[in-house]
Amino acid sequence: MREYAEEVKRHLTDNARVLEVAPGPGYFSIRLAKMGNYNITGMDISADFVAICKTNAQREKVNINVVQGNVSAMDFEDNTFDFVFCSAAFKNCKEPVTALREMHRVLKNNGTALIVDMNHDVSKEKLAAEAAKISKTGFERWFMRHTFKVLCRGAYSKNELENMVQQTLFKQSEIKEAGIGFYLLTK
Ligand SMILES: C[S@@+](CC[C@H](N)C(=O)[O-])C[C@H]1O[C@@H](n2cnc3c(N)ncnc32)[C@H](O)[C@@H]1O
Repeated sequence: MREYAEEVKRHLTDNARVLEVAPGPGYFSIRLAKMGNYNITGMDISADFVAICKTNAQREKVNINVVQGNVSAMDFEDNTFDFVFCSAAFKNCKEPVTALREMHRVLKNNGTALIVDMNHDVSKEKLAAEAAKISKTGFERWFMRHTFKVLCRGAYSKNELENMVQQTLFKQSEIKEAGIGFYLLTK
């Protein structure tokens, strides 16, 4: 989350309006809120995660506006945000092109979206390396490799992402593969 927040901060100016789509417990938004003077909104489909995110933000003494909603039909005006961020959730979107179009709609004209998620086409070697990074025992390594493999199989490939972005009004996009995932930066 620290790496993601540092990446996003590079694109922001003081008082920037940031939307985190699907924040879950809110770790990214909390981290970003501590890094600058931003106006941050988190929007999650799950009422439980909305409550958890609010509690976590209060505990960390940061001001984040947390609301419930679906990325496929967001309850925000057009041209509202300077930046939209989404991590580990895009693969869960039932209507990914609609979700991208919604992100574009709520972004201001010069706004940017960063989507970080797992990569469907990840190699066996990268899965093993990622599992090794966070595992202490042989069993843990096997278990994490298997878990990552299942998650990556359910995620999109670079080609699929490129194809989806082409069906939206985003004009520029860059997909960077990183470890077992990707960064999709689009304007
Ligand atoms: C694996 S969690 C990721 C949470 C957080 N972004 C992170 O990286 O820790 C996936 C989140 O996506 C949310 N989610 C799934 N579908 C959604 C949708 N259509 N609109 C908004 N949130 C959604 C879930 O409720 C959950 O909080």
